[in-house]
Amino acid sequence: YVIGIDLGTSAVKALLVGQDGAVAAEASREYPLYHERSGWSEQEPEDWVRATIEVLKELGEKTAASGGSIDGISFSGQMHGLVLLDGSRKPLRRAILWNDTRTTAQCREIERKLGDSLLRLTRNPALEGFTLPKLLWVREHEPELYDKAESFLLPKDYVRYRLTGAVQMDLSDAAGTLMLDVAARAWSREVLAAFGIPDSFCPPLVESVAETGTLSDAAARETGLPASTRVFAGGADNACGAIGAGILKPGLTLCSIGTSGVVLTHEPDASADYAGKVHFFNHGKPGAFYAMGVTLAAGYSLSWFRNTFAAGEPYERLLAGVGDIAPGAGGLLYTPYLVGERTPHADAAIRASFVGMDGAHTITHFARAVLEGITFSLNESVDVFRQAGKSVTKVVSIGGGAKNPDWLQMQADVFDAEVVRLESEQGPGLGAAMLAATGAGWYGSLEACADAFVKHAATYVPDAARARRYAELFGVYRDVYAATKPLNE
Ligand code: XUL
Repeated sequence: YVIGIDLGTSAVKALLVGQDGAVAAEASREYPLYHERSGWSEQEPEDWVRATIEVLKELGEKTAASGGSIDGISFSGQMHGLVLLDGSRKPLRRAILWNDTRTTAQCREIERKLGDSLLRLTRNPALEGFTLPKLLWVREHEPELYDKAESFLLPKDYVRYRLTGAVQMDLSDAAGTLMLDVAARAWSREVLAAFGIPDSFCPPLVESVAETGTLSDAAARETGLPASTRVFAGGADNACGAIGAGILKPGLTLCSIGTSGVVLTHEPDASADYAGKVHFFNHGKPGAFYAMGVTLAAGYSLSWFRNTFAAGEPYERLLAGVGDIAPGAGGLLYTPYLVGERTPHADAAIRASFVGMDGAHTITHFARAVLEGITFSLNESVDVFRQAGKSVTKVVSIGGGAKNPDWLQMQADVFDAEVVRLESEQGPGLGAAMLAATGAGWYGSLEACADAFVKHAATYVPDAARARRYAELFGVYRDVYAATKPLNE
């Protein structure tokens, strides 16, 4: 077996995966989030470590009971979180997470200082969620802590350090720090120098499939696993989600709808230029990259709608009739900007809207409009890719958006691309397990591992007439952003 650990924002989930790619067992533990002030979001690194040891112990016991053994462990991690360490590698404060938004002033400072070089060097815009702004925030607001800081790690890299005693960061996660020269696959001397951050602050970089050590004696004792158990670096959750869905070769695009939604394309090299409109990060596949657009309130739009207007209604009932309503939801249009929008607007102030309500509309029209609005927002990312010359013809759909056949057909029609669903969906944890399986030598490459582990199920083909209708409606959808912007300025 191998174990894939998905260190998420609400819980750690671990999968025990056999050589056929099937999940033999899983274990998870939750941990708290701390929101001490509005916009703040923190976690206790020790909580991650304790929870991870518990899930490893549980899966280790199941492995032993079945007479099997563990060939490797690897990770998928929530991105961007700052774990600030002192000289003896103890966390100096709680980790500041990806969804913490206290750093707007620091983002503006980064833009002022680096100007156009920011995009050239890091391939990404300065966003509140990224790590460098968090580091600058601590320096400004907690100087006594910053003075003691000697290095930093990202969440899963800290947990891995605690399990092995070895310090590394993989490129796919380092890409989200805004300190990495993504294309050169190295820490950016220029960015570090601009902010007076010493090189020694940044951990050594490795590939996601790299072996980073074996379990320390203490970790072996606590988990019950042999100290010889090999540990592989792992990757950012979005990279691992892409690996787990087989997005490892050009021509494949991922559409993942959870609370937020992601459209992600495989990039064989760093040559594509999306002008900072989408994230551009190193992939977990050695040498490769991916570009990613984000809709902040994707699944969240649907859960907000249900909880506000149809509390207690199961999703299956809420969505039961949406397939009987024609594209356009009878003239009703929704924009999903409940908490602002990332791609393509990078606008935290914009808010959502329903446009075109008719006294005859039913709750099912509204439900259909919500699904269409979410899909239009994701199509803005598809459009950024196409405008830059990328062809998007085959989309693997995962998450909540892949659970409903009407929504899958809608994705095919709106994206005007084939949409496929996976036979069984295991998310980023499977990607992490695939990194361990490939690192441990089960397969010669991640692609070969994906051929064995990732199976496509149903395919949804776009209908020409519906695709044309959606293209017209998409034009109206786009206009709503500019028209409603003054409401929230
Ligand atoms: C990506 C991002 C999120 C986190 C969630 O930029 O902020 O997807 O990785 O864990």
